[in-house]
Amino acid sequence: MGSSRAFERFPRFESVSLTSTIKDPTPEPPCVGRMRLAREIDSIAETQDNPRVLSIACGHLREAELSVAVREGRARMTALDQDPESIARVARDYASFNVTTIVGTVVDVLRRRLKVRDVALAYAAGLYDYLDTELAAALTEALFRMLAPQGPLLIANFTPDTRDAAFMEACMDWHLIYRDERQLVELTRRI
Ligand SMILES: C[S@@+](CC[C@H](N)C(=O)[O-])C[C@H]1O[C@@H](n2cnc3c(N)ncnc32)[C@H](O)[C@@H]1O
Repeated sequence: MGSSRAFERFPRFESVSLTSTIKDPTPEPPCVGRMRLAREIDSIAETQDNPRVLSIACGHLREAELSVAVREGRARMTALDQDPESIARVARDYASFNVTTIVGTVVDVLRRRLKVRDVALAYAAGLYDYLDTELAAALTEALFRMLAPQGPLLIANFTPDTRDAAFMEACMDWHLIYRDERQLVELTRRI
């Protein structure tokens, strides 16, 4: 998660809770977001035996090496990304961890081609900023279907008050979809 990306936690049948990042747009280095994810994985692994954790659009899955549970083989990771090179790198770097790698897309998830069930924790970081509302809502519904009861879904999204938005657009040509709290909650409407 990069600077001021909202980080939502949608526990099943509970109200939406927000972390401080949605209230504080202070830029946050990506490593902090990875540590946040690693903490979530560790926290699930403390309460469940060998939980299945699903990372959608995993990139290089760097949070895996920050998670004590993953390093100790107490969490089963499933990592999906559309980029075969990223997936090959995850498979190579984390061969000693319990990580299943999948080259796949959001469309594969929507079309139920991803045969993963009873997911204790699912998350997507660096993906929703690129998805329009319809696609993001459909993906949220599809990910919920894969969760075990009470399994949380974590969604990271840059917020409209991101201070470096202009820089990202002008200098990096990154045209992201920014979402506030209400817009993120709206993505759960199909659930
Ligand atoms: C900004 S990176 C984020 C990587 C990692 N999750 C992180 O937070 O560092 C975005 C990743 O999303 C993947 N991606 C983008 N669109 C995708 C799609 N439609 N289906 C699957 N992966 C996608 C890209 O290949 C890339 O690895």
